[in-house]
Amino acid sequence: MSIELRGSYSTSRNNSLERNSFRSESFSEDRDQEVIPDVGCLSIVVLGASGDLAKKKTFPALFNLFRQGFLQPNEVHIFGYARTKLSDDELRERIRGFLSQGKGASTEHTDDLLKFLQLVKYVSGSYDSEDGFLLLNKEISAHESSRRSQPGTSRRLFYLALPPSVYPLVCKMIRGYCMNQSHLSGWTRIVVEKPFGKDLFSAEELSVQLGELFDEQQIYRIDHYLGKELVQNLLVLRFANRFFVPLWNRDNIANVQIVFREDFGTEGRGGYFDQYGIIRDIIQNHLLQVLCLITMEKPVSLKPEHIRDEKVKVLQSVLPIKYEEIVLGQYEGYRDDPTVSDNSNTPTFATVVLRIHNERWEGVPFILKAGKALNSRKAEIRVQFKDVPGDIFKCEETWTANVNHTE
Ligand SMILES: NC(=O)c1ccc[n+]([C@@H]2O[C@H](COP(=O)([O-])OP(=O)(O)OC[C@H]3O[C@@H](n4cnc5c(N)ncnc54)[C@H](OP(=O)(O)O)[C@@H]3O)[C@@H](O)[C@H]2O)c1
Repeated sequence: MSIELRGSYSTSRNNSLERNSFRSESFSEDRDQEVIPDVGCLSIVVLGASGDLAKKKTFPALFNLFRQGFLQPNEVHIFGYARTKLSDDELRERIRGFLSQGKGASTEHTDDLLKFLQLVKYVSGSYDSEDGFLLLNKEISAHESSRRSQPGTSRRLFYLALPPSVYPLVCKMIRGYCMNQSHLSGWTRIVVEKPFGKDLFSAEELSVQLGELFDEQQIYRIDHYLGKELVQNLLVLRFANRFFVPLWNRDNIANVQIVFREDFGTEGRGGYFDQYGIIRDIIQNHLLQVLCLITMEKPVSLKPEHIRDEKVKVLQSVLPIKYEEIVLGQYEGYRDDPTVSDNSNTPTFATVVLRIHNERWEGVPFILKAGKALNSRKAEIRVQFKDVPGDIFKCEETWTANVNHTE
């Protein structure tokens, strides 16, 4: 028997987050201490607002939060910042197509869209210029005064939709010119996306650089993939379900496959991808996080620190990967992308088998598979259970065929 959990690409409006979860609880300095209510206005700054991530993911995510009531129009302002010269209206036009539902949009959706776009402003400046960040600070401060936010209570969130090479410089500028003077309940937060560095050395270096500028509680290293419903449901499936609790181990599970496929290639964005490859782009972050959620022990609570501790433990039990348990490939036509070098050997497909050396998982292969330009688009976790003893249905063992299946 196998169970398959499939990824959904839709965003549910009926999500179970409490309305204030974007506020005090998730951003409280010390989650064990009394939560101080957020009272000041909120400025969200998307740095790299002219780019791909901003228009495809960040602004649509902010719009969804707005529609669900997490961002209140009377307290929030959203600033885009990048070098490209754009007016407020030009930025709004750029992102509008990614927020609208086209001709079939309801009046309610269209009204929400107009209201949301009015909250968006644009500031142009370079990532290393004092002038740009002084101007940004001036605009944020003007918004805070217009909302009569009590000094020290306002909140500033900086989302870095930028290439990682720019993070240290931009963070220095934010630290120097744009920090909230938060002596009451106000705060400043920095959100960075994956990839966090390129290897262990660069990740540690980046950590040190950010750590010199901000407290750990101010830094959010995020992986947007973990917000998908499929991934969010994993903890509930495992730890709130008596049916699965006794089965989730090496005695019952033959193998687990974690698969991410895209049916499109780099589409002109090979410049970024070619420096990283599919392992750094998908496997090291998204799929390893999913692996942790599937395999870790039950955390003491749902606090981020407790979940992190369990993830670390299971990662420490992963054995070195065997060379013969890796398959790498590159799709035909990848090098035709003008942003990719003609002799690139960057993998666009990879399968690796991970083995976890602990009491629960010894002997169970975890097959992580990711690829671009494949025959379908799918995010899937397949948990293959062992055959029942004394099978009367004469089932064939299919999983080995699946494991060896070439895309
Ligand atoms: N795109 C995605 O779907 C996606 C998914 C997950 C994670 N990410 C990560 O999110 C970050 C942003 O991705 P993206 O796809 O939006 O990148 P992008 O479009 O290449 O870059 C975003 C913006 O950054 C500025 N920029 C680009 N290259 C720069 C450079 N060398 N120096 C200074 N500024 C530069 C450009 O704005 P200006 O020229 O106007 O300043 C550009 O519009 C990256 O770390 C990426 O790995 C992206």
